[in-house]
Amino acid sequence: MTDVDRIAELRNALHRHNRLYYQEAEPEISDAEYDQLLNELRDLEERHPDQQDPNSPTQRVGGAPLEGFTQISHLVPMLSIEDVHEVKPTAEESPSPPTDQDDLFSPKPAHNPYANLVTWHTRLVKNLDGRPTTLTVEPKIDGVAVSLLYRDRQLVYAATRGDGATGDDITANVRTIESIPLVLPEDAPKLLEIRGEVFMNDDDFAELNKQRDEAGEPAFVNSRNATAGTLKQLDPRLVAKRPLDCIFHSFGRVEPTVFATMDDFHEALPRWGFKASKWLRHPASLEALLECVAELNEHRHEFRYATDGAVIKVNDITLHEGLGSTSRFPRWACAFKFLPEQKETVLKTITIQVGRTGVLTPVAELEPVFVSRTTVSRATLHNEEEILRKDIRIGDTVLIEKAGEIIPSVVKVITDKRPEAVNQAGPFSLPDFLNHRCPSCHGPIEKPEGFVAWRCVNFECPAQAVTRMTHFSGRKALDIDGLGEAVATKLVEKGLAASPLDLFDLSLDQLANLLLDPAKSGSGKQSKERRFGEKRAQTLLDTLRRAREEMPLHRWIFAMGIPHIGESTAKELSRLHETLAQLASSSILPALADLPNYEALSISKRKKENHPELAPFAIDDSLGPVAAQELVTFFSSEAGRNVLARLDDLGFNPQSDNYAPHPTTSSEAESDLPLAGKTFVITGTLSQPRDHFKALIEQHGGKVTGSVSKSTDYLLAGEKAGSKLAKAEKLQVQILSEDALTDLLA
Ligand code: IVH
Repeated sequence: MTDVDRIAELRNALHRHNRLYYQEAEPEISDAEYDQLLNELRDLEERHPDQQDPNSPTQRVGGAPLEGFTQISHLVPMLSIEDVHEVKPTAEESPSPPTDQDDLFSPKPAHNPYANLVTWHTRLVKNLDGRPTTLTVEPKIDGVAVSLLYRDRQLVYAATRGDGATGDDITANVRTIESIPLVLPEDAPKLLEIRGEVFMNDDDFAELNKQRDEAGEPAFVNSRNATAGTLKQLDPRLVAKRPLDCIFHSFGRVEPTVFATMDDFHEALPRWGFKASKWLRHPASLEALLECVAELNEHRHEFRYATDGAVIKVNDITLHEGLGSTSRFPRWACAFKFLPEQKETVLKTITIQVGRTGVLTPVAELEPVFVSRTTVSRATLHNEEEILRKDIRIGDTVLIEKAGEIIPSVVKVITDKRPEAVNQAGPFSLPDFLNHRCPSCHGPIEKPEGFVAWRCVNFECPAQAVTRMTHFSGRKALDIDGLGEAVATKLVEKGLAASPLDLFDLSLDQLANLLLDPAKSGSGKQSKERRFGEKRAQTLLDTLRRAREEMPLHRWIFAMGIPHIGESTAKELSRLHETLAQLASSSILPALADLPNYEALSISKRKKENHPELAPFAIDDSLGPVAAQELVTFFSSEAGRNVLARLDDLGFNPQSDNYAPHPTTSSEAESDLPLAGKTFVITGTLSQPRDHFKALIEQHGGKVTGSVSKSTDYLLAGEKAGSKLAKAEKLQVQILSEDALTDLLA
C-alpha cells in the first residue's frame, strides 16, 4: 500500500472510531490504540505535506491564529423561535392543588402555568386546518447557536448565527470540538447545512473556572458566557484546550432531502456522527404535550448541561412550508421558557461574611436542597434591609430559586410554616445577632448614615485578608498575574501572608512548596493536591518586583482597597499628590471632607470651586467628601499608619505619574492636548474593550468617569447603550460615536 493510500485508510478509520466513541458510545478500540493510529497518520502527513487536509483527524489541535473573522451567508436564514413563557402564579392564585379543608371550601383561582402554550397550540391547530401531525418536544439548550455546512460529506465551514442572514466564520474553532464530525459517512446527504448548540457541560465548566481562578483570571459567570467567549477567540489552539461540546437540533438546506419528519432527522444524527438530544418525546394531543413539557421541567436539572425551556416542533416536515413563518420565526415551532425552578427549604441559620472593605454580608445557611442542577446550601441575603423587607427569620421555611439559573436567592418566606417560637422572636436584627461585633476580628461594626450595609471598621481584620489580597493584585490594581483567590486563600491559611504587603516578604521556597487544593476532574474524581511549583513561584516574584519598581502611585492607592476609592478617584488623588506621604498629610482631604452634604456620594465640581481653599485644584467629580473622609480616617488609623511604616521599611515609594495639582497654571503642554479639561463617560458595546478607549482619552488629556452628570462633556456611546445614553440625552451632553471620537482626537 502506498503512503497516500494509507493516509486515506487511517483517516477513514479514525473518523469512524471517533463516531463510535462520541455518538454511539461503543468504542471498538482503546484510547491507546486510537492514539497509535493518530500518531502514524501524523508522521505520514509530515512526510507528505502535499496531502494536507483541514478535515484530517490530526487537525483538532487548532491552526494558526486569525486576524479577525470573515463573514459567511447562511444558505437558509437562521430564524429565532417564538418564545412562549410559563406563567407565574399571582398572589391570589394557588400555585398547587388545594391541600387542606379550608382551601377546598374557599378555593383560590387555579393557576395554569401553560396558558400561553395552550394559546400557541390552539393557533397551530387552526393553521393546520385539519391536517394531522404529532409534535416533538426536546430540551432547549442554553448554549451558542452554530450552523455547519458539509459538502460532499466534508466539513466546509462553521458560522455563528450573527444577524440570522450572515454570521462569523468560526470554522477553525469548531474543528477543534472533538464530538463534531469533520467527515460524514456515505449515507449522509451531498449537501447538509446543519444547526446545533455549542455548550460546556457543568463539570467541565466548573473545572475551567477553577483553573482560571488559580491563574488569577476572572471566572466566567455561566457556561453560556464561557462558550460564547471561547468561540470568539482568534486563536484556535486556545479553543482546542476548552471543553466544548455540541448537540444538533435542526437544519437549513439539505440536498437531497432524505427525511420526512423531525424524527427521521433525529434518528439520522448519530448515524452521521452528530450528537443529538437524548431526551425526545412525540405528543399527539394538547394534553400529552403539556404532560411532556412538565416531565421535561422535572427532569431537565439532571442533565449535565444548562437548559432553559422546551422546544416544540411540528414533526411532519412537509407541513412546515405550508405553515410558513412570520418575519421573525417559523409557525411550526416554539420555545416554552420555564420559570426558574423553586424549592422550599429551611433556613438553619444566618452567617455573616466580611468583605474586602469590611462590608458585612448576611448569608442564608440552608438545609441542602437540589435546585437547577446543583445542591444549594447557601444563598446571599444581600443586607439587613433586604432581610427586613422579606421578613426572613432563622428557623423559617423559605422558597429558593437561582436567579438567571446561576445565583441562589431567597424568594420569600412561607409564613404559614413559621414555627410559633420564631414568630415570638420578632424580626431579625443584624447588630443584635452579632452583639455589635465583627464575627471575624470582634472589632466594632457600624452602619454609616445613608448606607444599607453594616461594616467592620477594623482595617486589619483578618477576614478581609484574602479579598484584600486579590484586590491588591487585580488587573486594575498592581496587576500581579498568578495571584488569584486560590493562591491568596492558601497563603492566608498557612499564615504566610496576612496582608497584601506581606507578599513582598515571601521567598521562592515558600511559594514553590505551597500546596493548592486538588482539582476535580470531569468525572468528579478527586486528584492529589498540587504544588505551586518553582516556575510559577518565580514568575510571581518577578511580577511582584515589577509592581514595586514600576507601578505608579494611583495604582497603589487603588490597590489598598480603601472604601469608596475607585480607579478614577485614585487617579485624581495622584494628580493632587506626588507621593503617599504627601497624601497622608494632605491639606486638601480634610477640607474636602468638611464640605457639607457628607451623605451625598459626591459633590459637584462647581460646589468645590466655591471654597477658596479647594478652588485652585479644580478637583473633579470622582473625588468627593465621602472618599476624602475615608482617606482621612484611614491615614489617621493605626492600620493606615502601619501600612505607611511597612512601605517605608520595604523601601517602597511609589510616585505619581500624573502630578498636576494646579491644572490651569501648571502643565501648559497638557492643556494643549485636544481633550484637556474634558470629562468623558463610556457606555455600550464598542469595537474594543472600554479600557482601550479610556487610555486613549487620557493620553489626549481627557478624563473618564463612571456616571453621567452635568459636568460630563461627552458620552462615548457604543451599541446597546442604555440608561447612561438616556441620561446624557436628558442633560444634553454631547454624544460621540467611535468615529466622532477619532475626529475629535485629530
Ligand atoms: S430548533 C427555527 N431546537 O434556541 C427553529 N433550537 O431561541 C430552529 N436552541 O436559534 C431551532 N435548543 O439556537 C432548536 N432543541 C433546540 C434548541 C434550539 C436551543 C436555540 C437555537 C435557536 C434558539 C431560539
